[in-house]
Amino acid sequence: MTPGPMALNFSEATSHDMFAQRLPPSRDNSLPQVLAAAVTHLHTLIREVRPTQAEWRQVIEFLTDVGHASDERRQEWVLLSDLLGASALVEEINSRRPKTATPNTVRGPFFRADVPQLALGSNISLDGIGETLDVSGRAQDLDGDPIANAEIITWQANAQGFYENQQPDLQPEFNLRGGFRTDSDGRFHYRTIKPCGYGVPDDGPVGKLLRQAGYPLRRPAHLHFMIKAPGFETITTHIYDGSDPHLAEDAIFAVKPELVRTFEPRGKGWLLDLTFVMVRARQGAEI
Ligand code: BEZ
Ligand code: FE
Repeated sequence: MTPGPMALNFSEATSHDMFAQRLPPSRDNSLPQVLAAAVTHLHTLIREVRPTQAEWRQVIEFLTDVGHASDERRQEWVLLSDLLGASALVEEINSRRPKTATPNTVRGPFFRADVPQLALGSNISLDGIGETLDVSGRAQDLDGDPIANAEIITWQANAQGFYENQQPDLQPEFNLRGGFRTDSDGRFHYRTIKPCGYGVPDDGPVGKLLRQAGYPLRRPAHLHFMIKAPGFETITTHIYDGSDPHLAEDAIFAVKPELVRTFEPRGKGWLLDLTFVMVRARQGAEI
């Protein structure tokens, strides 16, 4: 069949429509519709920025480098999503928890699922470097009833601001990570070290690009938590040290007022007591 005149009329004005016209009619949020929206925005961006061919090749090279920098230990694509504010925006769109429940925030690229299961009271600082922090806490539902046997997974940076999977040759494997289960009162406790704020890694393509653009890459001091219990929505969140002066400049927009706590001094170390409030999973909702 000979193509109609419009079908060959690829131009700045028609490019996105020509792409969309090749897709089948579709419902809201279906793959063809999302693809058409993505291409419309991409073509608008290209028309606005007007890259040269060499510049566009740089974009392709950047994306290739992001792929090559991603593996089981490091998720450069997650870092890109986080630093562009995309992860925080997706979270915001989907966060429908009641005000009294613990909010989610960005998971970040340093999570490991294969974390060791530890007895309550264990010390997750395997090299003992840093100021001692004793963390205790409780998992409860919206009525304040304890959630026994909830899984608490924690991970954090060391006192220099590095995660163990960033420094496999310098830190013991699983340093500053642990998996715990709450007791019959919904309580848990463990020992760690006080985290310090850190710069988002800029040794990979994403950090390098943003640094080159002059974007601030600082993250305020925090602990990461994932809390799982059957029948409840999983909480993936951070707890921030309220004394960190950079809470308002977080590179990934992940600080929420409900997640900022005071670390209490005790002797030579610090104490932190937390309450995680879980919401029952909606039927059919992802948990
Ligand atoms: C983190 O908190 O581990 C993190 C999150 C996003 C980007 C970089 C680090
Ligand atoms: Fe972190």
